[in-house]
Amino acid sequence: MESADRDQIDPLLEFRGEFPILGRTNYLISNSLGAVPRAASDSLKEYYETWATRGVRAWEEGWWTLAADLGDLTAPLIGARRGEVVFQPNVTMAHAIVLSALDFPDGRRRIVTDAMHFPSILYLLDQKRREGIEVVVVPTDDGIRVETQRIVEAVDERTSAVFVSHILFKSAYIHDIASIAARARAVGALIVVDGYQAVGTIPVNVRELCVDFYIGGCLKWLCGGPGAAFLWVEPDLIRRLEPRITGWVSHQAPFDFEDRLSRRDDAWRMLVGTPSIPALHAARPGLEIVLKAGIDAIRAKSLRQTGRLLELADQAGYPCTTPRDPNERGGTVAIDIENGYEVSRRLKALDILCDYRPGAGIRLSPHFYTSDRELDEAVAVIGEILSTGSWKAFMTLRSTVT
Ligand SMILES: Cc1ncc(COP(=O)(O)O)c(C=O)c1O
Repeated sequence: MESADRDQIDPLLEFRGEFPILGRTNYLISNSLGAVPRAASDSLKEYYETWATRGVRAWEEGWWTLAADLGDLTAPLIGARRGEVVFQPNVTMAHAIVLSALDFPDGRRRIVTDAMHFPSILYLLDQKRREGIEVVVVPTDDGIRVETQRIVEAVDERTSAVFVSHILFKSAYIHDIASIAARARAVGALIVVDGYQAVGTIPVNVRELCVDFYIGGCLKWLCGGPGAAFLWVEPDLIRRLEPRITGWVSHQAPFDFEDRLSRRDDAWRMLVGTPSIPALHAARPGLEIVLKAGIDAIRAKSLRQTGRLLELADQAGYPCTTPRDPNERGGTVAIDIENGYEVSRRLKALDILCDYRPGAGIRLSPHFYTSDRELDEAVAVIGEILSTGSWKAFMTLRSTVT
């Protein structure tokens, strides 16, 4: 079927009108920054109006519980229940709070992670070495995947915690989380999953995966902007945790301003200080639209469109660092051609928004609002840029990678 015909029958394209930037650009960068919904403007205006008219009363009229209220909205996207998810300022900080809650008794002073985890998390784990914790980083052979079996074999009775991404940020490889979690459980280790590249593009169910912690954020596939990450902790486990990074918002009676911390027993136990209210306002409309579009429909379309991109790249003879097996593939296709960085800059200048990561290539991430024609255009324009050599104008910019 021709792309134009396919677009005609794509029900998800009905949502395009809700994202102003789609009228101006070919937006293939949802793995990095999802498109902003038009409704975010109203939501941010509402934030301002509340502040301007209600002043400090805004806290008791909604702001104080917003980090948990938005958690309730997010819960269905990860198979969690109401009251189990809270918002955090960013994914790294959510990991830091979780890490600060873990204990490493003698005989269990080991963390297992993988070499393709997001660097920020690796930096964080690396700090634990200063406390004598062994951090085992399971290597990758091909820069695309880290074999599940290797991770499973690295997790043993000496392990306290396993930190893995659900979907690898560089290659969009989907980890077999259920198998890794089963191994962790069998040896008494906890598993912390970074689902930033997963939630909003694939169905996630924390209970089916049997994980202990699941962290995500709204910036990318949930079209929510920066400052809105979220954390789920298995409810029975949370009561036993004593996060060292903590604060007054986790107190049972924060407005009593007691000297000693009496922690709450629910998801609020992982909160620290005043939540980022404007960020939470910006995040709500994206969540609502993704829920309305439906995650199963989004995943089905993503599989089809990433498959289509791979096909177009194959036809053009461009190597891709993206898994071919649909069960292993998230929402991004990375085309790893020579001078990929410069080509990506030229694409951006032509309003085809994408990014470039060393070792991965030019990353193209269609989302539910992307048309098939836009995929054709992106790959055709890469061909033009290469054949005309117009990428050369960007050769001096490499030091300012964004
Ligand atoms: C998988 C993954 N984890 C963590 C991060 C960093 O998140 P934050 O900046 O919210 O700490 C990113 C950012 O791209 C990511 O893709």
